[in-house]
Amino acid sequence: MTDASGPVLARLAHPADFEGWRQQARALALAGVAPAQIDWRIGDADAGLFADAAVPLPEPKPGIELTVPRDFPELARLVVCHRDAGRFDLLYRLLLRLQSQPALLRVLTDDDVHKANAMAKSVRRDLHKMTAFVRFRQVEGPDGAEAFVAWFEPEHHIVERVSRFFVERFASMRWSILTPLRSLHWDGATLHIGEGASRADAPDDDAMEAYWRTYYANIFNPARLKIKAMKAEMPEKYWRNLPEAQLIAPLIAAAGRRAEAMVANQPTLPSERHLRQAQRQRDEALPGPEAGGSWQEAKAAARDCARCGLCQHATQTVFGEGPLSAPVMFVGEQPGDQEDLAGKPFIGPAGQVFDRVMGEAGLDRSRAYVTNAVKHFKFTVKGKRRIHERPNAGEISACRFWLGLERDFVRPKLVVALGATALNALTGHTGSLASMRERDLVLEDGAALIATVHPSYLLRLPDEAARERETARFRADLGRVGLLVPEMVAA
Ligand code: URA
Repeated sequence: MTDASGPVLARLAHPADFEGWRQQARALALAGVAPAQIDWRIGDADAGLFADAAVPLPEPKPGIELTVPRDFPELARLVVCHRDAGRFDLLYRLLLRLQSQPALLRVLTDDDVHKANAMAKSVRRDLHKMTAFVRFRQVEGPDGAEAFVAWFEPEHHIVERVSRFFVERFASMRWSILTPLRSLHWDGATLHIGEGASRADAPDDDAMEAYWRTYYANIFNPARLKIKAMKAEMPEKYWRNLPEAQLIAPLIAAAGRRAEAMVANQPTLPSERHLRQAQRQRDEALPGPEAGGSWQEAKAAARDCARCGLCQHATQTVFGEGPLSAPVMFVGEQPGDQEDLAGKPFIGPAGQVFDRVMGEAGLDRSRAYVTNAVKHFKFTVKGKRRIHERPNAGEISACRFWLGLERDFVRPKLVVALGATALNALTGHTGSLASMRERDLVLEDGAALIATVHPSYLLRLPDEAARERETARFRADLGRVGLLVPEMVAA
């Protein structure tokens, strides 16, 4: 370290003089001057008590080189703008420490690093606020030409740093931005940075204010009112210099009423009924097998089905699957949670019961076409679970179109209704399933119909004995399928 006896005076041209700090800090570091020895002074301020004792900058010591990481200069540029009086000391200390600890800036818990980062953040925020909240008022320039003046109160010494933004933004205007710290004056060609000003130097209300207020009132959306976010973005301390701020309280107060009026005045949108009708017309134009259409086209069209509201929450349409030449079609109720995610019918718990009892009845599922009365999963959410809900009459009826198309393509000899919903979709029967079970039924196209329970009914039975008894009945119903359609019997 230097052997200079008094403090070393380092003079800076203005409060955010980064270049001045950089040059002198470099010279001082090369001369080995300790941070505590330096007295950083701004402008021509008197060196005070130590003025006489101050010594000139020492000569650089041979053999000392300075290196800093790439992000240090930008950090230092921001920190010099901070209003903290110790900013030059802090940066100089960091500069020296970086010589022996090149990765120091990564140590975010280090006191100096933490402080410098917090200061840089605060300056960045101030810069942003100044670019957003400066409001010009029109005045008459000295030569009678129009000019603009704004008053702004920054927290830090950011005026020089932000000047380029305003010069580029308002290049063709003549303007001044007055602040208590320093002021900017642009005459259309040259920027002059002058002394600070007082609020009284800036003009008061004028036509520009009225303009700002009208603009703000127009862009204010009462339906999107978020007071907390608004205050974070436009802190209250800036309000007193913003003409539009006078509107904030009345606009907030009226927001509820205006939002209601916006809802009431919304344009009339087509009703759900009209949308469904249009959908129906589109679907009905879908060619069935007689008109040369294909099952693949029907399946693709069903993906966009919005005939009822179930499509809004379900993951996807679950169309039937199986050979189009299948002699038997099994119709369930609607996809469950797992089917909805996988896009395939009967693969979840009910599907496993179905597969098992099919096997026990000697039937081969892969030879059948398996589908559902309703193609979208209907559910309510309980915690993290989606709980199955029965489709209503409207949903069953809306989906009957797709079941009809599937039957047209497959033309099964026998249809098996698994449960009351399937029976309703196939026959319109809304009474009990029990009254139709074990009867020889025929559909309007001549196909035989067997009505039996849904496999999930077996899963819901509370006691073992009932489960065994009902499973045996279900197995017997499926046994009838094998008797009526021997092609279904597994080899
Ligand atoms: N229940 C049904 O009715 N169908 C399925 O695909 C799954 C469970």
